[in-house]
Amino acid sequence: MENIEFKNTYSPLSSAELIAKEKANMDAKRFKHCIGVSQTSRKLAQLNNYDEDKAALAGFIHDYAKQVSPERFIEVIKSQGFDQDLLNYNRAIWHGIVGVYFIEHELKITDPEILTAIRRHTTADVEMSTLDKIVFVADFIEPGRTFPGVDEARKVAFANLDDGVGFELAHTLEFLIKNRQKVYPKTLDAYNKWSIKH
Ligand SMILES: [Fe+2]
Ligand SMILES: [Fe+2]
Repeated sequence: MENIEFKNTYSPLSSAELIAKEKANMDAKRFKHCIGVSQTSRKLAQLNNYDEDKAALAGFIHDYAKQVSPERFIEVIKSQGFDQDLLNYNRAIWHGIVGVYFIEHELKITDPEILTAIRRHTTADVEMSTLDKIVFVADFIEPGRTFPGVDEARKVAFANLDDGVGFELAHTLEFLIKNRQKVYPKTLDAYNKWSIKH
């Protein structure tokens, strides 16, 4: 099935059910991206002595909520105890931090490590676990990515995961600033932690 596989020990739903729900929640292009992130997460897990199936699952579902309607996100932010400052941002931020709400309720995944990795994948953070880093970096370098600099990003990340995080944050900040887009404060803190050359 779709060249995606992982041992699912994190949800009462079967792997086939998870795949079907994921597919129904997004367009074909996004689904392909999620498969790419899953495969790259597995590879990064292998390189960093992390549980490959857990990484593959986290990578697969990381964008589960990316195409949930903004109205639905706003409803959830207002009613489920989220920081109301989130209303000043958009889906680019929400699908990670608030996306976990949909993952918990619809995919029935409650593993804190997986949920934290998904929460952090859009903003990064000062504190990042190995799984946080794997999903964050895999999202950036999966085989479908073609932006200028992606080859170097892959080289850096496969050689050293922390350097991959630093490279990605510097690249992202550069992009946001060049386009005069809002920087989520936590992303700036993460940049100061992971991207500075000593
Ligand atoms: Fe995402
Ligand atoms: Fe993604």
